[in-house]
Parts: sequence; structure tokens; C-alpha cells
Amino acid sequence: MCQECKKKFYITTPIYYPSGNMHIGHTYTTVAADTMTRFKRLTGHDAYFLTGTDEHGQKIEMKAAEAGVTPKEFVDKIVAETKKLWELMNIQYDDFIRTTDERHEKIVQKIFRQFYEQGDIYKSEYEGMYCTPCESFWTPSQLVEKNGEKVCPDCGRPCQPMKEESYFFRMSKYQDWLIDYIETHPDFIQPAARANEMLNNFLRPGLQDLCVSRTSFKWGVPVDFDDKHVVYVWIDALSNYITALGYGTDHDELMQKYWPANVHLVGKEIVRFHTIYWPIMLHALGLELPKQVFGHGWLLFGGDRMAKSKGNVQYAQPIVARYGCDALRYYLMREMPFGADGNYTNEAFLTRMNADLANDLGNLVSRTVAMIEKYFGGVVPAWTDAVDAELDKPLHEHCAALPSLVEAQMDKLQYSQALAEIWKVIGECNKYIDLTQPWILGKDPAKKDRLANVLLTLAECVRYVAVLIYPFMPTTPERIFQQLGVTDEALKTWDSLATFGQLPEGTKVCKGEALFPRIDVKKELEVLNPSQPEEAPKAEPKQEKKAEKKQEKKHEEPEYPAEINIDTFFQSKIQVGRVLECTNVPKSKKLLQFRLSFGKDGERTILSGIAQYYPDPAALVGKQIVAITNLKPRMMMGIESHGMILSAVDGNDNLRLVSVGEGVEDGAIVG
Ligand code: ME8
Ligand code: MG
Repeated sequence: MCQECKKKFYITTPIYYPSGNMHIGHTYTTVAADTMTRFKRLTGHDAYFLTGTDEHGQKIEMKAAEAGVTPKEFVDKIVAETKKLWELMNIQYDDFIRTTDERHEKIVQKIFRQFYEQGDIYKSEYEGMYCTPCESFWTPSQLVEKNGEKVCPDCGRPCQPMKEESYFFRMSKYQDWLIDYIETHPDFIQPAARANEMLNNFLRPGLQDLCVSRTSFKWGVPVDFDDKHVVYVWIDALSNYITALGYGTDHDELMQKYWPANVHLVGKEIVRFHTIYWPIMLHALGLELPKQVFGHGWLLFGGDRMAKSKGNVQYAQPIVARYGCDALRYYLMREMPFGADGNYTNEAFLTRMNADLANDLGNLVSRTVAMIEKYFGGVVPAWTDAVDAELDKPLHEHCAALPSLVEAQMDKLQYSQALAEIWKVIGECNKYIDLTQPWILGKDPAKKDRLANVLLTLAECVRYVAVLIYPFMPTTPERIFQQLGVTDEALKTWDSLATFGQLPEGTKVCKGEALFPRIDVKKELEVLNPSQPEEAPKAEPKQEKKAEKKQEKKHEEPEYPAEINIDTFFQSKIQVGRVLECTNVPKSKKLLQFRLSFGKDGERTILSGIAQYYPDPAALVGKQIVAITNLKPRMMMGIESHGMILSAVDGNDNLRLVSVGEGVEDGAIVG
């Protein structure tokens, strides 16, 4: 088909914050976008795939300052790592936009000015609670209560009151238009439940005007008519989807060609920005809306959303280094339905790799090739008329229908279901081997014709599978084609799947290495990052354990990483507290129960496994101690502990509580 006549398809990922290296959460969205791009190209579309980084903002400014480099130096390094990661994951993006690109900044200024001039943006003052790690303002009613403290609803950390002069976007003006648009375009927000969430939680109750500039930091795109201000995140970030296409310049051919986007893939936490603010911005610019915003679910880690700002992340690199990028890509697209959340565990990954890749797919390919070698000297025979209609026909028909079954799922972005369709055929092939029993046919020269058809059927099914898994696992098909002896590029295309039975007689197969060798899950789990949740000690009273250990093997230290990031340290909230009460926990030899005051931060209960060192716990009352206060609460002996008291053992096996000098207030932060 000529390039001009091809159907256009424009797909994007969010532009990620380069505040830290990208983890498998970012990898997930990016793999999904790449898979779709490859699928669209395979099926004859002219696809364009954009990703990039969202580099401005206070958080990055602060991180750079901590690291002692300029913000630009800071992000350059992470962007370089990100690009390396995408290469490792075999991501073929067409463009990588950075919000620090001049092409982007110039147009953001232009867009901002246009909004101001046409009355969509006005100047006023902002008051609210600000969460610095999340770069989010919250109204008091949005904050949630935790341990008697009002904290950020996203990350659970304390917010600071903040007031500043700001520009605001008059979102309210477009609210009715947007409600109508969403109601009349059911495909716009997917999954559909998210559309209802937007309508019910944000639009129908009334839209607040959006704060779109900041004066409290400098690392942003300056407002060109009021340079005290920088453009604040969402106008800057969302515009990337059009600035990358040359919108607002003399070279806007890509914009003409690809806008509106077919789909913006985003994590569900930013659906709101993409389905409320972004459509309103586009409408105010007189541009068409993207056809769809798909809010996918989260990869969870130990039940919690994996996030840079939470530090509970798994990275792709060690997995890819050990098992290859196709295995991880397969797992990410197969494990959870696109739209739903799912836990990432190495165990689930390894188990699936064995079951689906080593057993189902790997065995089918190796058995098929081995049998053609054994019974036909490695040369694919011709079709014969020794057909067993009952066994052959359903498989031929199912395999022939597979491309359209896969396409139907991909049209709905149901990656996992698309793979499930392919694996159904793989499963059927393996069953077909059991039913036709080629090893028995092979013993009887009179059954040679029948055997030819059986093996051809299998080989042709394998060819279908190889073509269809390509968007998901870009390097595996070529390894299969090599074993099958398929060299003709025409037999690797979508079009070659139009009729079943294309694999030509005379093709020379060639047994190769196992596609995915079977792995010993237990062994591999030991090798993979030992801090995985499934391997972390499950014992509840961790502190008790620790105290035990201290007593028995005083000199054995836990394994610490050689170095940690300063952020890792800053994630612990360490505070000075004063002992109000201290008692033994009934029935426990080890635990002491402390009631502590943290000054204006209130009181809390903390359990500590140090009873054997303090025969007279009451003697501790009135002393100041040091504790980590943002640990996840934990139940021990039926009592909830809200933190951990710091201590060390001295040379005479006496426990010393960590203390501070005179004059430090209760609740003071240690750090
Ligand atoms: O939000 N599970 O950037 P970000 C699944 N710069 N996907 C995840 C994930 C997880 N645990 N963690 C991250 C921003 N992602 C803004 C976007 S767009 C105009 C601006 C993926 O670095 C998912 O796509 O926080 C999520 O929406 C995105 O990374 C957030 O990346
Ligand atoms: Mg985020």
C-alpha cells in the first residue's frame, strides 16, 4: 500500500518526570505503546509513536540542588539513562520530546500568551496546601488524616500551607461543553468506568479554575509577558503532544498529518489531567480532541503502587539482563488486563515464563522442528490428502481466524486478551500433538502421508504464531523463523496470514537453541534482587526478630547496599520523642510498649523488642528518644506500633537508646 493511502495512527505515552530513573511502571506504559505501534505497522498503518520527559518543576530543581548540579545537568543524565532503557526494551519511538527542548518551550510560551490574550487565563492569588514531592496543591478537604496529621492523599506525606500570586485558567467556562462531549463520545475515555469517575467526581460538581503558573521556583518555562512567573506543570507538560508535531510553527506537517492523536496511554492517576484539562486546552486552541485517552492500571509492589516518590520500585534492567527483553515484555502485556492493577512479583514473572514461554511456546516450536527433522530429514513435506477432518479442520480454522481475533482485542487495547487468543492456539497445537501421536505414525511407513499433514499443520500454526507475537516480542519471531527455515520476508507479514497453508514444501528446518530454557524458579528468586516482597521476611514482629539476632549474633550486620541515594535516607522521618509511659507487653518477653510525645505532632504508641535490656521500663519515662515515625504501622501481639525506636548495643551488651543533646524540642526532626 502506498504510504499516503495508509491509515494514520498516532500514539503517545505520558512524558515521565526525570526525577529518578524509570522503573517497570514507566516501562509498562512504554512497552504498551511500542507494542501497539508495531501492531499497527504490521497491519498496514502509518503509525507515529511519541514519548519523552517532563523536566520542569520544583521537585527537579530541589533534587538537582541536593545533587549539587544544575537542573539541566540533572535531567540530562536521567534522560540519557531513560533512552538507554528504551533501547534495551526494544522501544522504537519516532520522537522523544523533552520539555526543555527549545522547540517545546517556545510554543508553550505562545500557547500561554494566546490563552491570556483571549481571556482564558487571568491573574489572581492562590492559597492551599502543597505537597512538594508530588508537586500537587490540595484543598483542605482533599487532604487525608493519618496519625492525627493532615497529609497528601497521594503519597501520605505532610503538606505545607502555601500562598502565591498565580495565573489561573478559567476551566469552569468550558465545563458544560466538556460534559456534553464526554457524554456523546463514549470511546473518548477508556475504560468507560473512568469516564463516569470524571463526570461524577469532577465535572458535575463544578470545575475549579486551574492554577497555571508559579513564582516560587524558577525551573520552568518563563511566562514571556510576566517573567516573575513560570508556566506550571500541566500546560507545559500536556502541550508536548502537539509541540512535538510542530504545532504553532511553520513546519507543522506532522501536526497536519497525525493530529488528532488516536490514543494517549496514561496511568490512571493522570486520567483527570488528560480528560479534563487537556481537552479544554485543545478546545480553547480550536484543535480537535484526541480520539481516546486510555487510563491503564498500576503495577503494584507489595500491594502498594510502585512509585519513584515512594521508593518501592522494581527496575527492568536486572530482569532483562537475565531473561531477555521479550520475556519481560510478554509478562507485562500478559499478566494483567490493560486497565486493571496488578502486583509485580518476580515469582509470578518466573512462573509465567516457565509455563507460557518455556513450556507452551518453546516446546511447540522445538517438538515441531525436531519431528520434521526426524521423520522428513528436516525438509517440510507437501500437503497430502490424508486428512483427519475431525482433528485437522478445527485447528486450521481456528488458526486462520486468529489474526482477526487478535486484531479485535488490540482494537480495544486488550493486550492480555490478544495474547490469550494466541496462546489458545498454541495450547490447541500441543493438544493436537497428543491426539495425533506423530511418534506412532512415524513407526508405520503407510502413515507417512498422514504424518506429513500433521507436521505441516503444526509448522504452519507456528508460523502464524511467530507473525502474531512480533508486536509483543519483537526478537523472538526471527528465532522461530530461523528454526522453521522461513527466509522469505513475504511469509512473515500480516498479509501472509490471509489463507492457512502458505508454508512451502521444501523449506529446510533447523533445530536451534531452546527459545526460552526452563528455569528453576526457586534458584532464580535467590539470584534476583533479594529485597523482593515475596522473599522479604514475612515474620510479623520484625523488631522482635532483630532484637533476638542482636543477642545471639551481635556482630552480624544485615546486608546494606554499598551506597544509597540521599532520597532514600530522606524518606525516613526521624524525630525526637519523649517517653510518657513504658510498660512490658503482657505475654511477651521481648516487647516494650512506649507511649511517646512528639510535641506538636502529637502522641503515638511504638513497640520495641528491647525488654530484656530494661528490667525496669518505668525508669525510661521522661527520657528523650529518637524514632522513625513514618513507618507503616504494624501489629505485634495485638497492638499496633507506629514507628521504630533507634538504639545500639554497647561493648558490654547493654542497649543504649539513641539520644540527643539538651534543649531539643519533642517532635524535632533528625536529619
Ligand atoms: O505523571 N504502574 O510523570 P511520572 C503503572 N510527568 N504505570 C506506571 C507506574 C506504575 N506503578 N508508575 C508510573 C507524570 N507509571 C507526568 C506526566 S503527561 C503530559 C505528564 C507510568 O514520571 C504511567 O504511565 O509520574 C504513569 O501515568 C506515568 O508512568 C507517570 O509518570
Ligand atoms: Mg507520578
